[in-house]
Amino acid sequence: MTEISALKAGLIADIEAADTLEALDALRVGALGKSGVVTGLLKTLGPMSPQERLEKGPPIQDLRESVTAALADRKAALEQAVLDARLASEKIDMTLPAEAGPQGSVHPVSQVMDELAEIFADLGFSVASGPEIEDDWHNFTALNIPETHPARAMHDTFYFPDEDGQKMLLRTHTSPVQIRTMMQTPPPIRIIAPGRVYRSDSDATHTPMFHQIEGLVIDKGITLGHLKWTLETFLKAFFEREDIVLRLRPSYFPFTEPSVEVDVGYTLTNGQRVIGGDGDAAGGGWLEVLGSGMVNRRVIEACGLDPDEWQGFAFGTGVDRLAMLKYGMNDLRAFFDGDLRWLKHYGFSALDVPTLSGGVGA
Ligand code: DAH
Repeated sequence: MTEISALKAGLIADIEAADTLEALDALRVGALGKSGVVTGLLKTLGPMSPQERLEKGPPIQDLRESVTAALADRKAALEQAVLDARLASEKIDMTLPAEAGPQGSVHPVSQVMDELAEIFADLGFSVASGPEIEDDWHNFTALNIPETHPARAMHDTFYFPDEDGQKMLLRTHTSPVQIRTMMQTPPPIRIIAPGRVYRSDSDATHTPMFHQIEGLVIDKGITLGHLKWTLETFLKAFFEREDIVLRLRPSYFPFTEPSVEVDVGYTLTNGQRVIGGDGDAAGGGWLEVLGSGMVNRRVIEACGLDPDEWQGFAFGTGVDRLAMLKYGMNDLRAFFDGDLRWLKHYGFSALDVPTLSGGVGA
């Protein structure tokens, strides 16, 4: 037996006997590492004459290949053994009765989204959705927010690194779903689009991810009157009160013209702010709940529709904020902590599906 074949037999025997992944790795380093025996032999090939290398090279190469293959085989076998042991020890018998019941409940954001879907379904709206990873054309340009518009800076956008000149971002609002819907669905259109949105912003009332709901109506002869009636009907159903008073304030959004911000009145009841009633009454006030307006002609045009034929209104609001107002929470960050105690306090039963007849608030 030559020296090399003896070495090979010894190494392979050691490898096959290694009983842990750590031991195996130590053998690998000892053989193929920087100062391993096999590496050492490979290094002797460099200075040899071509003739000598032709003769001594093949057994050394064979040694390297055999040891590499033996290491790989043993590694696979040991990993399989580790997995088998884990599978055996972590086996769960799914047929056994549960020790504790399920702990979770429906998150207030999910609850409010379900309530909104139910309210708007009753008004003939369907639910639309769009991607959270958007391009800047849908998120900004088509919404009449050109490159140089200050609103782009105001949105604190999370951008992705540029790829093929295509600017991708995490959508900063649900408004791009307006664009996607108008481009895909021939009018008349009546949709709401709930979903996650992202802005680089964080404090007690701002989180980098939050939820919005968008509304869009496109039809013939739509006016601000339709907008006001729709929002009033929605807010009455949502807050489950008939005495909801709206205040429409002139505002500016690039994608609506005219634009209005919508406040709801609150009044003081036993020292508590309660949504409902005239906000101008003593002790009362107004809370901004929605941005809205008549869809800008330029937006309708960008989607390939004729703005002389089709008009509409749009609105957008924060779902988390609506949940806070309705269910009396004051720190938005708690929404994303996943604290079971908070969820137990504010959460909703999975069986309390919001219905208009049963009361959407459960
Ligand atoms: N996209 C706006 C924002 O995130 C909210 C908004 C305002 C949506 C007015 C609308 C609208 O559809 O008409 O601040």
